[in-house]
This record gives sequence, structure tokens and C-alpha cells, in this order.
Amino acid sequence: MFETLEDMPADAILKLIGQHRDDPRSEKVDLGVGVYRDAEGNTPILRTVKKAENWLVGTQSSKAYLGSRGDPVYCDAIQKLVFGERADSKRIITLQSPGGSGALRVGAEVALRANDQARVWVSEPTWNNHIPLLGEAGLKLETYPYYDVDQNALLFDAMLAALNDAAAGDMLLLHGCCHNPTGMDLTAAQWDQVADVVVERQLIPFVDIAYQGFSAGLDQDAYGVRMLFDRVPEMIVTQSCSKNFGLYRDRVGALSLVAADEATANILSSQAQSAVRTMYSLPPDHGGAVVSHILNDAELRAEWHDELAEMRNRLKEMRKLLVTALAEAAPAHDFSHIERTTGMFCYLGISADQVAQLKSERGVYLVDSSRINVCGITAGNVQYLAESIASVL
Ligand code: LMR
Repeated sequence: MFETLEDMPADAILKLIGQHRDDPRSEKVDLGVGVYRDAEGNTPILRTVKKAENWLVGTQSSKAYLGSRGDPVYCDAIQKLVFGERADSKRIITLQSPGGSGALRVGAEVALRANDQARVWVSEPTWNNHIPLLGEAGLKLETYPYYDVDQNALLFDAMLAALNDAAAGDMLLLHGCCHNPTGMDLTAAQWDQVADVVVERQLIPFVDIAYQGFSAGLDQDAYGVRMLFDRVPEMIVTQSCSKNFGLYRDRVGALSLVAADEATANILSSQAQSAVRTMYSLPPDHGGAVVSHILNDAELRAEWHDELAEMRNRLKEMRKLLVTALAEAAPAHDFSHIERTTGMFCYLGISADQVAQLKSERGVYLVDSSRINVCGITAGNVQYLAESIASVL
């Protein structure tokens, strides 16, 4: 039967890992896949993660199954991280998932169990894996304008206008913070306006918050989720610990489902666990146990806040550094939008041909859309980077 299958193109983001690795040039720069890098270009294990892992190795006494929901202690801690004091509500149920992607997929499965014609509106552009991940689960996808690539600006009015075509019961995928790929976020006032449309048109928010803590801070970054929780009866929220705990390969995330009342929330929990059982049976534990220990230990938690602030501040600094270097290397071009973006990514605002040229002529790797991972910038490579970009303009 396998002879019927055709070769699949590699994922546009993940293929950059291999391309950069195999490039022999010493001056090469990796601005591709979204992993944090420090000033030396390394992706270190967080100090708090190392401490929690050591604690875990010393104290864990069993590797027995935890169940499809994962560890309830982790679920409570991670729910509190995104919902804050609203986590006391019995309207929310949370499951541990293999990364944010696992949460997105289970969320889609539960939505389809409730409505086999379910539609979800995604921003144009959105994270490139949102589309196959949700689409192949069976959700019907619609897009709303979000970002003007010519002006490097948010298309907020066009976004609201498009959402006025959404039907009651449609889901609306929003990036909780640090929009991937553009880095252009809604302001609090714009979140409120989106919520007005959501309420008026009876849409169901589906918030993917994969970068909490990478923009303004843990609570500030959760503004949209928390405000929407107060205004709507139902929502889906997916979280990831890949970035804020640096646990990329350990696959740690969470799915929260919000229902109108506690009885429905319990039904959602049973449906989600049954969906998990048919897909991967139950989530991996190690990363979740690490996160749970950090969040429940006051000292470690405070230290983690500091580590998170360190990462967040580095992103801000590197944006500034790049904009300054570009102003010198390419004075006729305006790259000031980069400082108006937030989180791990932004668009450079160059064409796919120019991106290809950067790769082949300068060993600078980024996604064809011109999305860059800002963490790939260092004080040591920013000059080379700015000159490289200027050379293809
Ligand atoms: C990214 O957007 O680069 C990250 O979320 C990693 C991934 O899986 O694509």
C-alpha cells in the first residue's frame, strides 16, 4: 500500500534547522526555528529546570501511569499561570498535553465532537503549523486579515470587518501574546474591541498562548485570555512550556476548556480525556513534573521569574540593536517596525527572493516569509547581519 504515497515537502520552519547545521560557513546566522538563544548563541537549560530535574531524579519513586489528563498538580499550576485568580472557577478544566501542538490538536478534536462542521478563523498570517494541525484534524479554516506586509502594520479594521462575516458558533483563533510570525500584538484596547465582536457575533475564542512571559510579563501577557474569560461562556486555551521554561524537546503544554457551567466542564473533561486516549493515550510526564515543581516552590518560582525576565529583556535589546545597525547599513530603508513588535519573532519585510539570497550568499537562515527569530541576533553578529540584509535590498 505504501507505493500510493508521495513524498512530502519538509516543514518550512523545521527544515531550516538542518540547512543551517549543514552550512560550513563560520559566519552563518540562524534566525529560523523558534528557540531561545542567549548572548553566546546557545539554547541553555534554565537553571531552575536543572534544579527541578535534580530534585525529581532524587525524589521520584514511580513511573506508573498518571492517566489521560496528566498530573492534576501540574494542571492546577499551569491553569493558574494563564487564568490567574479566575482559575478558582469550576468552569475551566485543564489537561496536560504534549506541547502546545498536542493541546491544539486535542482542542480541535473536542470541538469536532461538539460540532462536526466546526469552523475556525485564523489570522493571515499565522504560525505555519496551525493550518495543517487544525485543518487535518477536520476543522474548516477561514482567515481574517491581520498584518499588512507592505506597511508592516496591524490590519485591525480589516480584521474586525472580516469577523463580522463569522457565524455564531465559529471559533476565533487568537495568539494570546507574541504573535507568531509577525510579533505584532493587539493592544489591550484592541483586545477589548475584539471581545465586543466575539460577544456580539457569539464566537468562541480559541486562544493559543505559547509565549506567555516573553512580551511584557506573565500577567500582562495573559490580559486577552483573562478578559475574554470574563465575557464569554465558552473558550479553548492552549499553552506551551516550550519557550517560557525552555522545555522544547520535553513536550510540555496544556489544554484548557471553558464551559458555561461546571456540569458541562466535567463533560468536556471526559470528552477530552477520551480523545487523548484514542490519540496518544496519555501525555509524557517528565517536563510537566519539572514545571509543576518550579511553580509550586516559592524560591524556584521567583528564580524562574528572573530567568524569564532575562530572556524577555534580551529580546528587546536585540531588536534595538538590529534596528540601530540597519539604520546605519541601509539608511534609505525603514526598519523601525521591528521595535514595535514583541516576543520571539517579527517580519523583516523583505521578499522570498531576498530571503533566498540571504541564505545562499550570506548563510543567514530565516523563513521565506522573512520571519526572523530575534534570539538569533547577538552583539557579535548584528553588524554582519545588518550588512547582509542591506546587501540584498
Ligand atoms: C516556531 O514557530 O518556530 C516554533 O513554534 C517551533 C515550531 O514548531 O514551529
